[in-house]
Amino acid sequence: MAYPYTHEKEVRILSKHFGEPEARTVEGWKARGGYQTLSMAFEMGRNAIIDEVKASGLRGRGGAGFPAGVKWSFMPQDGGRPHYLLCNADESEPGTFKDRELLRWAPHQVIEGMIIAAYAIRAEQAYVYCRGEFFETTQILARAIEEAYEAGYLGKDILGSGVNVDITVHCGGGAYICGEETALMNSLEGRRGTPRIKPPFPAQAGYMGMPSTVNNVETLSSIPFIIQEGADAYRANGTAESPGTKLFCVSGHVRRPGNYELPLGFPLMELIDDVCGGMKEGRTLKGVIPGGSSVPILNAEECANCEMSFEGVIAAGSQLGCAAVIVMDDSTDIVKEVRRMVGFYAHESCGQCTPCREGSAWAEKILRRIEEGRGTEEDLDTLMEVTSQMEGTTICVLSDSVAAPVQSSINKFREEYLSRIRTGEKAGVA
Ligand SMILES: Cc1cc2nc3c(=O)[nH]c(=O)nc-3n(C[C@H](O)[C@H](O)[C@H](O)COP(=O)(O)O)c2cc1C
Ligand code: SF4
Repeated sequence: MAYPYTHEKEVRILSKHFGEPEARTVEGWKARGGYQTLSMAFEMGRNAIIDEVKASGLRGRGGAGFPAGVKWSFMPQDGGRPHYLLCNADESEPGTFKDRELLRWAPHQVIEGMIIAAYAIRAEQAYVYCRGEFFETTQILARAIEEAYEAGYLGKDILGSGVNVDITVHCGGGAYICGEETALMNSLEGRRGTPRIKPPFPAQAGYMGMPSTVNNVETLSSIPFIIQEGADAYRANGTAESPGTKLFCVSGHVRRPGNYELPLGFPLMELIDDVCGGMKEGRTLKGVIPGGSSVPILNAEECANCEMSFEGVIAAGSQLGCAAVIVMDDSTDIVKEVRRMVGFYAHESCGQCTPCREGSAWAEKILRRIEEGRGTEEDLDTLMEVTSQMEGTTICVLSDSVAAPVQSSINKFREEYLSRIRTGEKAGVA
């Protein structure tokens, strides 16, 4: 067992070299087969790369699961204006810690993926937008980029191919909302990091008003394998609708929390009971947030047959999101947890949209009242009503992220709210 935990059921493609410090160096990465795909990709040409990524079925790992190859094909084919590739490394969703690990342990994998993606979409300039708190991570990445320049994998005329790609690292200021792709572009331009109304979409008018593609770190890290091994090899893991492997960040009340790379579609209960060693001593499962704090909570019954693919988690009643699996046992105070999540979103709301700005603050206030034993049953109706007005009415979906935990917890754990309202005490076991 290495990196702090691994499991025999893992299929370690992206995380193969996690825990090996030498893999961070350009020489160490080359010794592990790295950077072989660049010449292959330049020989294939842009259209063939996009077709291969489309055929692989790779879906974006930043949360929405949009097919990466399709997104790339939206970029204009003319060469008239500068194009940009933006790698989203803002990773701030509560429960997520996979992009940080990809950047810390396999920085050259994402650099290699970015060079191929930039070439495919005709971008000569790419940026990595890093979460502000990723101090060590950013330094590791910056060093890897420097080494890639020295080795001739970045800059002008890469490997004599005539292809030019520059990568610049930019550190955010620690705002969750800058992970939203249009806020990210504003922030990168030096403006206030607030989301823009879409359309226009980034492929039409993105960074600096130019055609741009935004992809998550894990999405871009998957590209070298797809180019090297082909779309069929990629599809050998996962399901037809959700091909490939995925890094699942498991946190909460399991014995071995951590990042585990598994085929999409892996059963949730096997992930908890086997891969993560089961619940903590003497505890039982109360619920799981399967995709980061912005998706609906599943109760234990819904977890029983949940498969961790994009379609499987929807069928169970939630969303895969970025696959940050937060496991809660019977000691969990649901009211407190939901209040804390809503408090996070209220703090991170950029304030442009009234339903989000006012709704998140009101929801937090009401939840705190209930938590402190000063709530009424009517408060539950108010919470449902306020949050229903926050869905689909705003510029970005941060607002919907407030509605998901509030509504799902009231629907599925109503008794806990009622008990708190009646007795002022936390329900269930200590
Ligand atoms: C409030 C909010 C925060 C987001 N934060 C992130 C983030 O930290 N990292 C990320 O990759 N995507 C984040 N996204 C999704 C991005 O807008 C975008 O869809 C994603 O980076 C696209 O990459 P992909 O297609 O490779 O998944 C966020 C979206 C919203 C609405
Ligand atoms: S939904 Fe919230 S975070 Fe998103 S743009 Fe509107 S106010 Fe800002």
